[in-house]
Amino acid sequence: MNVETPIELNAENKQISSTPWWKGAVIYQIYPRSFYDSNGDGVGDLRGCIEKLDYIASLGVEAIWLSPFFQSPQADYGYDISDYKAIDPSFGTLQDFDDLITEAHKRDIKIIIDQVYAHTSDQHAWFEESRQSKNNPKADWYVWADPKIDGMPPNNWQSVFGGPAWEWDARRQQYYMHNFLKEQPQLNVHNIEVQEAILETMRFWIKRGVDGFRMDAINFAMHNRALTDNPPALLDMSRVTRPFDMQKRIHNQSQPETPLFMERIRQELDKFGDIFTVAEIGGDEAPSEMRSYTADNKRLNSAYSFDFLDGPPVSADKVRGTLEKWTGEGGEGWPSWAFENHDARRALSRWSAPENRWDAARCYMMLLLSLRGNAFIYQGEELGLPHGEVAFEHLKDPEAIANWPRTLGRDGARLPMPWVKDGLNAGFSTGTPWMPVDPKQAEFAVDTQTDDAPCMLRFTKFALSVRKKNKALRLGNMNFLDTGNPSVLAFTRSYEDEQYLCVFNFSDKHSKWKHAVGSGHIVQFSDDSLSDGHEVPADLPAYGAYWAKRV
Ligand code: NOJ
Repeated sequence: MNVETPIELNAENKQISSTPWWKGAVIYQIYPRSFYDSNGDGVGDLRGCIEKLDYIASLGVEAIWLSPFFQSPQADYGYDISDYKAIDPSFGTLQDFDDLITEAHKRDIKIIIDQVYAHTSDQHAWFEESRQSKNNPKADWYVWADPKIDGMPPNNWQSVFGGPAWEWDARRQQYYMHNFLKEQPQLNVHNIEVQEAILETMRFWIKRGVDGFRMDAINFAMHNRALTDNPPALLDMSRVTRPFDMQKRIHNQSQPETPLFMERIRQELDKFGDIFTVAEIGGDEAPSEMRSYTADNKRLNSAYSFDFLDGPPVSADKVRGTLEKWTGEGGEGWPSWAFENHDARRALSRWSAPENRWDAARCYMMLLLSLRGNAFIYQGEELGLPHGEVAFEHLKDPEAIANWPRTLGRDGARLPMPWVKDGLNAGFSTGTPWMPVDPKQAEFAVDTQTDDAPCMLRFTKFALSVRKKNKALRLGNMNFLDTGNPSVLAFTRSYEDEQYLCVFNFSDKHSKWKHAVGSGHIVQFSDDSLSDGHEVPADLPAYGAYWAKRV
């Protein structure tokens, strides 16, 4: 694998930057609605984020990614934007956002915002105009199509959240397309005017000081204009809960023109310096699309997929199979990895049994922080939170309500952050929280995890500080070792003359591994039984993990 090139030169061959700030960064994801409520209305807000900046800085992360806080009817909790340049009043004001940027930058924390360019809210002024007639100035800003002769939708495309991807609109006497909820009409990103509007939105936020963009569901941005039916996926039906999964989604999304639009975006953003871009890529073609969307250092900087957000539990084979696709060669971009976010069940609850919680949480955190790429930590992951329990009557996610109980289970990942174990609403809000606090999560509140005793929070901070200090862990090449034990994963991360050995036991049993890689000194061990400087061991306790500096 190639060594990362740390220096970039401009046309006069002058060094314009060293490694960009985002390369190897650890990024903390905030779901603002559930992070901290500063005004007692039950909904987390931007002032709440400002009040918790010292906490975030104490973790040692380099950046924050904020899920959407823009004006929105909240049909999909902010992923349905009705004005890209306004803050939803439930989250605060533009002044609050400007203050958040200022205060974050004072603490050397960058701000990444979430941009949703595949669809808007049905209450966006663009859609209001578009739906009025077939010949208004924005008539072609969304994806409209005539019904079939029998009144049926124009093709068989299905929406992610269930049911056809088409909704009838009597004003235009046409169907409009929506890949997600019917309240999220699909933008026609093929249209150059729409592309211009997107670029204009990006410029607006860059001028306010943002440092990067997470691009939501961006491989959904364009559709096949011939509206060709998707072919069937022919899966084992017992595994499928949504008609969406019964198709090969090759025409409603994933069009070859989308990465070219990413190039246009990059050309624009390059005018403003190191603005970070990361694509969210879901679907069966994620590995090749991640590659294509970040190719040749002329599209987006990075991409992440659902590799570790759904599917089978983490394993040595899975990590190796996934990461070995990222060799750093052939004009490849830089990957990003997430084990948890607002769309997925908490990793601890997916991958390990409750009795192994602490050992597993430490093992997974070390793994996340040693994968070659950027690491996203989702609020509460640093505490080792289990997935939240939500009773049916408290569900908010429309997908969860519609498909109960066979759901994606997103609400359990979106419960209020527990700050104080015994405080009102776990210290999240003095009002009635928009979703109730889970008492099981409150057990692990921030105030229970202090720096003066071993705990997950302290462990996370320490692991982050080790990664931050060592270029091998931040930027180094990755080479897998044969461990002779399917439960044990081992790889090295190397940068110049620095090398780290990273070893993980994913089993709930003690495991041995083929330990033939020379010596090294433990720098971080997932439990406290081995001290700093200890020689590397050939056996590991259940969920044991270590980083050792090669000597
Ligand atoms: C991905 C987002 O993460 C998810 O929360 C949202 O529902 C969909 N995209 C649609 O925007």
